[in-house]
Amino acid sequence: MQKEKLSNQTILVTAGPTYENIDPVRFIGNYSSGKMGFAIASSLASYGVNVILVAGPTALSINHPLVKCINVVSADEMFQQCIQFFPKCNGAILSAAVADYKPKQINETKIKSNAETLTIELVRNPDIAKELGILKTEKQFLVGFALETDNELKNAQEKLVKKNFDFIVLNSLKEEGSGFKHNTNKITIIDKYNNIEKFELKSKIDVAEDIVKKITDFIHY
Ligand code: CTP
Repeated sequence: MQKEKLSNQTILVTAGPTYENIDPVRFIGNYSSGKMGFAIASSLASYGVNVILVAGPTALSINHPLVKCINVVSADEMFQQCIQFFPKCNGAILSAAVADYKPKQINETKIKSNAETLTIELVRNPDIAKELGILKTEKQFLVGFALETDNELKNAQEKLVKKNFDFIVLNSLKEEGSGFKHNTNKITIIDKYNNIEKFELKSKIDVAEDIVKKITDFIHY
């Protein structure tokens, strides 16, 4: 790996889920553990990268002098932090499982269980990846993730183009031991030149190394 390319870079990493509040005690969330994003942050820091880790609610923590961890809860909060820090970064790796929708209104008090049915209207959250893809300069790189259940390669390739990623990391829920909750992951990397590389099932720590290695190909001084 061309480690020397990484030293002194500043890279933004998003990790974990987002929680979208319904009322003071309930939220809409997902099963993302944050393990992949934290492993990437840790690997980058080990090569001398200054990491800005914007993390949704997870049970994880990281203690490394080069990692600044910013804890957020909702997609809106994650978006605000990313927009603020991205222009100062050499690139970003977006591994967070951001909720696509949030409740239109957050109930100020706990919703009572009087009615037989309850309908919650949802509205779109900001697409952080797409916005950063618009802001991206020629000197920056952008890496996204795709978690697909069907038409995996085609969907991932479309996301790569739509969000202006340099490469996308595809993990399939169909693969045993891959995706949310697990300590292992089986990925395919598709880059903007249409190179497709399939990797074996590995620990998320080793997967992070593969992703960081691929990043060195996209670092522009
Ligand atoms: N992403 C993001 N902000 C969002 C949604 C997604 O930054 N509001 C990022 C994720 O971190 C990931 C990539 O975009 O790197 C793809 O996420 P995914 O949820 O698979 O994409 P969506 O565009 O939401 O597509 P889908 O319709 O399949 O949910």
